[in-house]
Order: sequence, then C-alpha cells, then structure tokens
Amino acid sequence: MPATVIVGAQWGDEGKGKITDYLAEKVDMVVRYQGGNNAGHTVVVKGREYKLHLIPSGIFYPEKVCVIGNGVVLDLEVLDHELNYLKEQGVRSFNLKISDRAHLLLPYHRRLDEVDEERKGKNRIGTTRRGIGPAYADKTARIGLRVCDLADRASFRAKLAMALDEKNRLLERVYGQPGFTVDEIIGEVERVYERIRPFVADTSLVINQAIDEGRKVLFEGAQGTLLDIDLGTYPYVTSSHPIAGGACIGAGIGPTRIGRVVGVMKSYTTRVGDGPFPTELLDETGEWIRQRGAEYGTTTGRPRRCGWLDLVIVRYAVRTSGIGLLAVTRLDTLGGIDKVKVCTHYRKGDQKVAEFPASLDDLAQCQPVYEELEGWPADLDRLTSFDQLPQAARAYLSLVEDLTKTKIGLVSVGRERTQTLALTEAF
Ligand code: IMP
Ligand code: MG
Repeated sequence: MPATVIVGAQWGDEGKGKITDYLAEKVDMVVRYQGGNNAGHTVVVKGREYKLHLIPSGIFYPEKVCVIGNGVVLDLEVLDHELNYLKEQGVRSFNLKISDRAHLLLPYHRRLDEVDEERKGKNRIGTTRRGIGPAYADKTARIGLRVCDLADRASFRAKLAMALDEKNRLLERVYGQPGFTVDEIIGEVERVYERIRPFVADTSLVINQAIDEGRKVLFEGAQGTLLDIDLGTYPYVTSSHPIAGGACIGAGIGPTRIGRVVGVMKSYTTRVGDGPFPTELLDETGEWIRQRGAEYGTTTGRPRRCGWLDLVIVRYAVRTSGIGLLAVTRLDTLGGIDKVKVCTHYRKGDQKVAEFPASLDDLAQCQPVYEELEGWPADLDRLTSFDQLPQAARAYLSLVEDLTKTKIGLVSVGRERTQTLALTEAF
C-alpha cells in the first residue's frame, strides 16, 4: 500500500476523519490536499472526542508526519487556535509540514463570504461562511497571497496592500461594509507565521521523497464528491477538488503515484447547505436519523439534511475518483429501523435515470426508486468482526457492493477507532 487517497463518496461528513484516523495507524504520513477550515473532522480516541478543521487527523499519532498541502487554503488564525487546542488536549509534538505554496485565507475572505451569502438571500449556497470560496476565487484570479510570500515582510505588506485596494472597493462600494487596513491584518498574520515557520516546507518534495523511500502515505480529502467544484452539484459546491484527482494537484504528486482510492460512504445520505437532494427525508424517519446520528455540522452546528442511501451518487463517486474499495460508516446509526430503503436509480417522468445528472433542474425532477430491505437491530456497536453482523445488515452491504460493482473493505459500527470491522487483508 504505497499511496492511498481517501475520498468522500457523498456530500461530505461521511466519516472520513474516523476512517483516516483508523488507517493512519498503518501509514507514515497523512496529507490534506484541499479545502480549508470549512471541513470538520471528528475523531474519537479512547473515549475522548476531538474536532479538527485544518490539521490532518493523523496528528494524534506523534510519530506520523502530517502535511497541509498546497491545495489547502490556510486561515492562519484558525491554524493558531487549532495548535492551541491540540496543546490543551495534550498533543505535545507537532510533526507538521505546511506547504509554502498554500494560499492564505485572510479576514477579508471571511467577510466577503458572509456578505455575499446575505446578498444572495434565498439563492445562497449555504456556505460555511469561513471565506473558502473567496480565497479560492482570488487564487484563480491570481491575486492570492501564499505562505511563501510571508518570508519577505516588506514585499508581503506591498502585496497585501494591493489586494486590499481591490477588496476594500468591493466591500465599501458594492456591499456598503467597512474595509480593512494593512495594519489591522498584518500583525496577527506575522505573529502566527513566526509560530508556524518551522513547519513550512516544499511539501510536494517532502511527499514525493517519502513515496520514493517506500513510506506509506495517506491523502485525506475533505468534503465529498458532490461538493467538488467540477463534478459536484454546481453551484451548491465548495470551491476545491475533493475527488481523488484533487490529491495530485493539491499535494503536488503525479497520478501514477496513487496506488489505491478508498471511498468513504455513510449508510444513509446527508448534506448541509442548500441544493437538491433526491432521497431527502422530510418526515419523522429523517428526524430520527438526525437525532440518532447526531447529524449536526461539526463546523457550523447546522442540522444536516438526512435521507436514504442513494447508490446513484455512490456509483458516480466510484467512477469520478476511481474508487477501488468502499468504507461504509454509520451502519450502527441506521440500526433499529424496521425497513430500510436504498435508492438504486431515479425516475424522471417515464424515463429511467441511472447516472447522476449534470443539471440541477434535471436532478430536482428525479424521483428516487427504492429497493426496500429488512432493517437490523440497534446494537451493532459491540461487534468485533464482520461475521457477527446480522444477516439483514450483510444483505444491505451486499446490495451496495452489487450495485456499485465495488468491494467493501471496512465497516464502521461506532465512533471509536476500535469499532471498525475490516474485511480485507489490505487493512
Ligand atoms: P464552503 O465550502 O464553505 O464554500 O461551502 C460550500 C458548500 O459546501 C456548502 O453547502 C457547505 O455546507 C458545504 N461544505 C463545506 N465543507 C463541508 C464539510 O466539511 N462537510 C459537509 N459539507 C461541507
Ligand atoms: Mg465534516
């Protein structure tokens, strides 16, 4: 297992943090390749819950190298808080590398995200308001500031002044908001930079060298396939590439270096934010899943929209990321329902739709077609091996394998690292 990419096969929050943490035990390096602190990963280690937004969840293993790749947008204030938080939690050593090419997410990105969402009103994306979209927009518009720019104070100040010249006009004249001064921003940025300076590196080089030396590297995607800027439910997407290809760009590795792609999927579907969601349950079953699964956003606390498992989506994720193995999470959460449903395809008018559509108008007209299966009992969390799973749960997993033509390698039946059933030698 040289390099493995972990991707979310739905709309994010599939439990990638837990699966990454589980797999991290067997690797030498964990790399984040996109997104920013819009992500929220919850990891439970020995009964204690940790929440991370920027730093890879591998940080709980002191001997692993954790990398924030060039594809991540970095909010230094958040990073500073996260380092403090980890220290408070007793994490002493930070075996951390931060890409010198990562773009900075600055206070004006946050404000622009907020005012832009307000302006859009009911047409809002439902972003996390952390400034992610505006930071990536600046990167693409070639007016972003990068970590490496911080090395030269005078030139950083000049670049920031140039960026602010544009941002302040936008904030003041279009949105009627106060702008920012260079001095307001630069103090905090320079302070945190001093703190992280020892971690800054050419991370593409670090990662490629590790692979050359035969070390095992895990690439941890944030968000999920349907939030991908190119392949997701555009415009209700994030501004980066959570799919496996994103790992190449966001970490600076070639596709030939990736040995395996693991897709993480929940045994039902959730999404936060707006946009169509074919299998959404707006009834008491949806509410039951939300309560039982504590389906509230890690980053924003928003209630997540819940629905039945949609295999059209999972098949699409398998195709767009080349997923070779699935990790199914939250099988325990769904336990205790009499009958469970799985969407096998959609119907639009009298047409069968088997592949996920590009147009959201099409998607909004798609009615899910379900297969109904027997439910299983609620107490899966004590199980220690796959064979102990009730027959009904196994039938459910078989259906997933059949309809996605993809093997399931891991099944998660609880929040703890230990509540993970491995099905293949690979794990
Ligand atoms: P942004 O990434 O804050 O721009 O938000 C864009 C969309 O992605 C919104 O629907 C968010 O709710 C969603 N999103 C961003 N990060 C996550 C995540 O980590 N999990 C689930 N949804 C996310
Ligand atoms: Mg999350």
